[in-house]
Amino acid sequence: MEKLVIEGGRPLSGTIQIHGAKNAALPILAASIMASGTHKLSNVPDLLDIQVMLEILRSLGCQAEHYGDTVTVQTSTAYSSHVPEELMGQMRSSIFLMGPLLARFGSVTVYQPGGCAIGERKIDLHLKGLQALGAKIEETGNRIVCTADSLQGAEIVLDFPSVGATENIMMAAVMAEGVTTLYNAAREPEIQDLQNFLNTMGADIIGAGTDTITISGVRSLSPCLYRIIPDRIVAGTVLVAAAVTKGGVTLERVNPAHLTSVIHVLRRAGVQFAIDGDIIQVSCPTRPKAVERIVTSPHPSFPTDLQAQVMVLLSLADGLSVIKETIFEGRFKHVDELSRMGADIRVDLSSAFIRGVPRLYGATVEATDLRAGAALVIAALAAHGTTIVEQIHHIDRGYDRIEEMLSGLGATIKRYTPVPSE
Ligand code: UD1
Repeated sequence: MEKLVIEGGRPLSGTIQIHGAKNAALPILAASIMASGTHKLSNVPDLLDIQVMLEILRSLGCQAEHYGDTVTVQTSTAYSSHVPEELMGQMRSSIFLMGPLLARFGSVTVYQPGGCAIGERKIDLHLKGLQALGAKIEETGNRIVCTADSLQGAEIVLDFPSVGATENIMMAAVMAEGVTTLYNAAREPEIQDLQNFLNTMGADIIGAGTDTITISGVRSLSPCLYRIIPDRIVAGTVLVAAAVTKGGVTLERVNPAHLTSVIHVLRRAGVQFAIDGDIIQVSCPTRPKAVERIVTSPHPSFPTDLQAQVMVLLSLADGLSVIKETIFEGRFKHVDELSRMGADIRVDLSSAFIRGVPRLYGATVEATDLRAGAALVIAALAAHGTTIVEQIHHIDRGYDRIEEMLSGLGATIKRYTPVPSE
């Protein structure tokens, strides 16, 4: 198993360009199958989850290549709407194939998806939305078969603004007959990116970024060229890493508007920002201050995907901070690992009470999920001594060569790959 070995205590400094957003690229890649022909997507990060999505597209008969940051998908040879169970199990985002395959083939077979172990992660809202558009759903054990002779526009109210359900329903409704109105939709920037991509293919969608999305069905879509938005979670991770190491970093190719709630929280902790267009300069010359209360909630509130990373900053802050996690019930697994490094954190149900300590210490820790892994890397950068982070395949799902990204900013971080024994 590969691991990262990190010598802490060096302030990060320099300039970094932020790669494209995994959570935008995944549904967009899935949506590409709705238009027959060749798509070119740029700013696509080189991540494990993207490789799995390309593998799924190939298994359905598409050709898919990833060179540099560009993915070319040729979808006219797609013949199957059956997503292999083994690939479904590798990541939750495989569920994004449901809407597009249903729209293109009138049927889709999928399995309960895999993904990070951060909570229950049901898909009932996806299925209810597709049913409202006229799909029949049969569940047998792990297998879900979804069929529809034709899809009809409908008024759909989500019980919760689920990101994935909003995206799946949008994609299925693009070629439905009539108008679909989706109320209580998720408002994440990645949903706006999906709308822009679908509209570039010829769809007629308005409202993404608000809680009401209106999709007027169109007869067909055409392949297109499209550039993916920057990854706001990777950007947020670098902001925190710069702050905990008392460094100064310039982030280029970011969208500061996607990070409003994060910058607000970090400013309360004493982190300093200068923002100009798509550039953010971040620095934190003094010990961070505690933040009384942070609550993770759907966008535009504070994102659950940066909860673990910000907890590291608060672990080193002056005073008592509280983080309440409202999106995923299992998302405090990093707490035990941070405690091994000297953090003083107590969890009570969905709240973490963090009493800042003057310093963290190197230890051997385990990435339990993607963002928890990123948090441990950040903690290691700030810690005294050497930290070994194990199970880093989780980190590779969302950060394109994290060790190269951070060593470019002056961190001492190396990846060790075991030599296979003969
Ligand atoms: C997406 C993001 C993930 C992020 C999350 C919340 C992608 C690829 N992943 O995940 O990084 O952490 O949004 O911002 O974009 N739920 C149900 N039933 C459903 C669907 C969801 O109960 O059918 C619940 C989930 O269990 C969870 C909450 O809704 O408690 C939020 O999930 P959702 O917004 O759907 O997250 P994902 O789309 O899985």
